Amino acid sequence: MIPDKVPKEDVFHGSEELKKEAHVPSFERYKELYLKSIESPDEFWADIAKDFFWKTKHTGPFLDYNFDVTKGEIFVKCMDGASTNICYNVLDRNVHERKLGNKVAFYWEGNEPGDELTVTYRELLQRVCQFANVLKSHGVKKGDRVSIYMPMVVELVVAMLACVRIGAVHSIVFAGFSAESLCERIMDSQCSLLITADGFYRGDKLINLKLLADEALQKCRDKGFPVQRCIMLKHLSKEADETPLGSQSPPAKRSCPDLQVPWNPEVDLCWHTLVRGASDECEPEWCESEDQLFILYTSGSTGKPKGVLHTVGGYMLYTAATFKLVFDYQPDDIYWCTADIGWITGHSYITYGPLANGATSVLFEGLPTYPDVGRMWEIVDKYHVTKFYTAPTAIRLLMKYGSEPVQKYKRESLKVLGTVGEPINPEAWQWYYTVVGERRCPIVDTFWQTETGGHVLTPLPAATPMKPGSATFPFFGVVPAILNESGEELEGPSEGYLVFKQPWPGVMRTVYGNHQRFETTYFKKFPGYYVTGDGCRRDKDGYYWITGRIDDMLNVSGHLLSTAEVESALVEHEAVAEAAVVGRPHPVKGESLYCFVTLNDGVKYNRTLEAELKKQVREKIGAIATPDYIQDAPGLPKTRSGKIMRRVLRKIACDERDMGDISTLADSSVVEQLFQNRCCTGV
Ligand code: PRX
Repeated sequence: MIPDKVPKEDVFHGSEELKKEAHVPSFERYKELYLKSIESPDEFWADIAKDFFWKTKHTGPFLDYNFDVTKGEIFVKCMDGASTNICYNVLDRNVHERKLGNKVAFYWEGNEPGDELTVTYRELLQRVCQFANVLKSHGVKKGDRVSIYMPMVVELVVAMLACVRIGAVHSIVFAGFSAESLCERIMDSQCSLLITADGFYRGDKLINLKLLADEALQKCRDKGFPVQRCIMLKHLSKEADETPLGSQSPPAKRSCPDLQVPWNPEVDLCWHTLVRGASDECEPEWCESEDQLFILYTSGSTGKPKGVLHTVGGYMLYTAATFKLVFDYQPDDIYWCTADIGWITGHSYITYGPLANGATSVLFEGLPTYPDVGRMWEIVDKYHVTKFYTAPTAIRLLMKYGSEPVQKYKRESLKVLGTVGEPINPEAWQWYYTVVGERRCPIVDTFWQTETGGHVLTPLPAATPMKPGSATFPFFGVVPAILNESGEELEGPSEGYLVFKQPWPGVMRTVYGNHQRFETTYFKKFPGYYVTGDGCRRDKDGYYWITGRIDDMLNVSGHLLSTAEVESALVEHEAVAEAAVVGRPHPVKGESLYCFVTLNDGVKYNRTLEAELKKQVREKIGAIATPDYIQDAPGLPKTRSGKIMRRVLRKIACDERDMGDISTLADSSVVEQLFQNRCCTGV
C-alpha cells in the first residue's frame, strides 16, 4: 500500500539538516516502521507505551476491536485492564522523573502585545493539583462530566488537567459558541459543573463570556437541568492581589469598561478565592485505560452535534506519538499551534501531545491580524518558534497582504511548518513554503478529525517527499482504503470514499450517550470500515489527496458545520417557511455559507430581515456559522418526492449554468427564477 518508490521530481524534500537529527530520517525508515506497525501492532505500540507510567499492566491484547456491524457491536479497546492517569504522565512524570520541573511548559501570549506570562512544568503541576482539590471539594468525582467554556488562557489547560487528575470527564465548548450551543452541550453530556471566565478580547472585540454562560445556565434551568455550580475565572476584571499564575510580570491592563459580570451567589464561585486556600498536592485518580477521558462535540449531518468520546490510554499514546513524529519533536524545540483548545487540534496538539513529550509551547490568545498582520511572525521571532502549526484559512488570509509583513521578521528559527483543518490549495502551500518557510521548512499537511483523535494521513517532515496539497501517506497503525459507491476497495490511482480498515489507539470509542448513532454514522454504510465522510483521490504515486466532505457538512475556515443545523436555526425565525444551505467556495475561508430561504406568505424580504436572520444563526450556533449570503427563494428545486436537490442549489450559488440532468425536478422553472435572484455580494 505504501509505494516502493516515491517520485524524485515535482516533490519537495525536508532539509539535510533536519534529516540529521530526525526520529524518522528517510522514506525507507518510514516504510519499515509502517510495516511493523501494521504487522505487529502490539510490539509497535508497546514500545511507545514503555515511555509512560502504568499503575497496572494490560491483560488482554493491545488493541481489540470490531469494525463490522454485521458481526455485532462496534468496539475498540486499547490496553484493556491497564491503569494510569494522563495528568500524572504529562506533569508529575515530567517534573519528577524527567527532571523538567523548571522547563517552560507554556509561554502565554495575550491578545494585547505585551500581555505575557511564562509557566513551568512545576508551576503547572502545582496549579493543576490546587484546582483538582477545588473540584473535589465541590463534589466532582471520577466519571462526572465538567463543562469548560473559557478563552485561551493557561487556566483553561489547568482546568482540563485538573479534571483528568481526578478522573472527571471534560467537555470543552469553544468560547465562540453561543449560549444556546453551550446549553445544548451541557445538557447532552449532563455536566454537573461549568467553568468559565468573565470575558476576553478577540482583537478589538470584547466578549462578555460570563453573560453568555449565564444565559446558557438559565436555558438549562428552563429545560429542567439546573447546573449546581459555575466557577468563574477573572481574566479581565482581575484585581491586584489576584496575580495570574506563574507570571513574572503582571499582564498589561487593558481597560474594559463595558464588561458585565453578572453574579448569582447561589451558583457562582470565584476561581481565585477557591484556589487561594487549596493545597497544591493531589493524589491522581488511577483510571482504566478505557475509562472516559473527554467529550468534544462536532457537527453532525442530522443537525444535532455529536459528543465524540475519547478514552484514556489509547488517546494518550496516540497524541504523544503523532506529536513526536509528525513535528519531529526535539527537546529544544519551541512549538506553536495556533488553534483554539476548544477544538480537537487544541486538545491533542496544544495540551496532550506536547505536554506528554515535555515540550515548550506558545499559547496564544489573540488573532493573526491583531494589532496587525505581522503578529504571527512577530511571535515566531519573539519566542524563537521552531515548529509552527496553523490552518490553511489563516495562511490564505495572510497571503492576501503579500510577503512584506512576513519578511519584516526573521523567522530563522522555523524548522517545520504544519497545516490542518481543510484541504490546502497548492497556491497557499507554495506561499507558506516559499515566503514563510523560505524553502527550508517541510510542510506537514495533517489530515485528521475530531473522531480520529490525532493525525491519520500525514507526511513525516524528514522522511516524506511532499506534494503541495496532498496529505501524502498514513501514519503508523493506520490503514486507509478508497471505496466506490458499492463498497468495493479500489486499487491504484482512484477516487472515492476515504475509509479506514482497522483502528489505531486514538480513534473515538462512541458518541456520548448514543452508541447507535456512532455505529450508524461511521460504520453502517460500509460494514467493516470506519467511514470518514471525506472524499479522497489516490494518484499514480500512491499519494492521498482529500477532496472534501461528501456528506451534508461544510468546512468554513476549518470548522465543520452541518447544513441541517444552520437550516434549522433559520426556520426557527417566524418569517421563514423553509431553508436550504449549501457551500460556495471562498478564497480565504475555503467555503462560505450560501442560504436559500423561502418566506412565509405575505412576508417581504429586505435588509432588516436579512440582518435578523444572520443574528438568529449567530445566536443559535455562534459567529462561525453566520451566513455569508442569504437569498430570497420563492421556491426551492425539489424532486417529485419532495427532496431538495442541493446539487442544483450549489450550482446556483456559484453561478454555474451547466446544471446536468434536472429532469427529475417537480418544477424546473424555479431554477431560472433562482438564477435571476442570485446574491452577488456577500462577505
Ligand atoms: O474534511 C476533513 C477536514 O476537516 C474534517 C474534520 O474536522 P474536525 O473534526 O473539525 O477536525 C479538524 C481538525 C483535525 C475532515 O473530515 N480536514 C482536516 N484536516 C484536513 C482536512 N481536509 C483536508 N486536508 C487536511 N489536512
